[in-house]
Amino acid sequence: MDSGPYQPVAVLGAGTMGHSIALAAALAGRPVRLWGISPEDLAQARRRILEKLRTLSAEGALPAGEEGVLNRIKFVESLSAGVDGAVLIVEAIPEDLAHKQAFFCDVESQCGRDAVIASNSSGLSPTAIFERIASPDRALVAHFWNPAHLMPLVEVVPGRCTHPNAIRRVIDTVGQMGKRAIVVHKEVPGYIGNRLQYALFREAQYLLEQGVASAADIDLAAELTLGRRLGVTGPFRTADMGGLDVFEAISAYLFPTLSAGREPGGELRALVSQGAVGEKAGRGFYPWPDEEMRRMDGARERDLIRRWVQDRDASTDE
Ligand SMILES: NC(=O)c1ccc[n+]([C@@H]2O[C@H](COP(=O)([O-])OP(=O)(O)OC[C@H]3O[C@@H](n4cnc5c(N)ncnc54)[C@H](O)[C@@H]3O)[C@@H](O)[C@H]2O)c1
Repeated sequence: MDSGPYQPVAVLGAGTMGHSIALAAALAGRPVRLWGISPEDLAQARRRILEKLRTLSAEGALPAGEEGVLNRIKFVESLSAGVDGAVLIVEAIPEDLAHKQAFFCDVESQCGRDAVIASNSSGLSPTAIFERIASPDRALVAHFWNPAHLMPLVEVVPGRCTHPNAIRRVIDTVGQMGKRAIVVHKEVPGYIGNRLQYALFREAQYLLEQGVASAADIDLAAELTLGRRLGVTGPFRTADMGGLDVFEAISAYLFPTLSAGREPGGELRALVSQGAVGEKAGRGFYPWPDEEMRRMDGARERDLIRRWVQDRDASTDE
């Protein structure tokens, strides 16, 4: 089946990821069906999409009107209407293996035979996710990052049965949505991005618990050192540019001292058990009064929009 730019995409699950994946596809001109579990779920997704479109517009990043993009998204409560005619189906329901397995049996029974079926899992095995469906050859993980309309990379993770054709079609479709795709050749929990992210998070927690520095200073060290460079050079290019002999010497004395913790850190556990789960609860490693929430959300979104526009302009110049 044609995976061309005007073929519909279905997004199943209308939460944090679902609404922003739907927006990414609609911004690229695709007709989108966004499925949610209830009218309230869908109404919230619609509000969040509209809010994001208004921010894009206020930042001068949306050439045409907001309505045109919004009108490409059909908000549906019936799964069969959601998957109807879709060439790519992206699932974004909660990260629960048994639940995803059962959900995909329903999806498969209602979608077209040629549709590629993708899960936006953050790190579960695609072979396991799709083990109960009859056609795992057309199924795989397509891991978008949050917020999906602005983050430029998708990790494509085939399972044991995935056909190369499904991989190619997902890469083409997300490419048309302005995303770069990388293929993860081996199924490892967390794929690549989350493994790197959690390696850093584990060490950050360890430094905090050892009293090496405050959470704010550990954040600053990451933001103003690695963070400044990471958008330009990843770990291997950075090492090449710094000198592999230097990186080898430092690795030799540093690796034995790095955290090898096998569980979430004590401070993290304590915060979660007190309900201090971060921004959404008003308290986490930091206090999150409303004003701070607005300041940080705005700062991060504006920075991501600036880079998104840069990427978009660079690709149209090519
Ligand atoms: N939040 C992130 O930063 C992020 C990033 C990348 C990938 N992911 C992955 O994306 C998926 C969705 O995460 P999210 O953060 O958008 O979750 P979420 O809780 O914000 O949204 C989940 C959505 O799934 C639907 N849903 C809820 N309960 C359901 C049920 N019992 N059965 C079927 N559908 C149900 C609803 O539409 C709900 O809005 C997960 O697999 C998650 O690991 C999350």
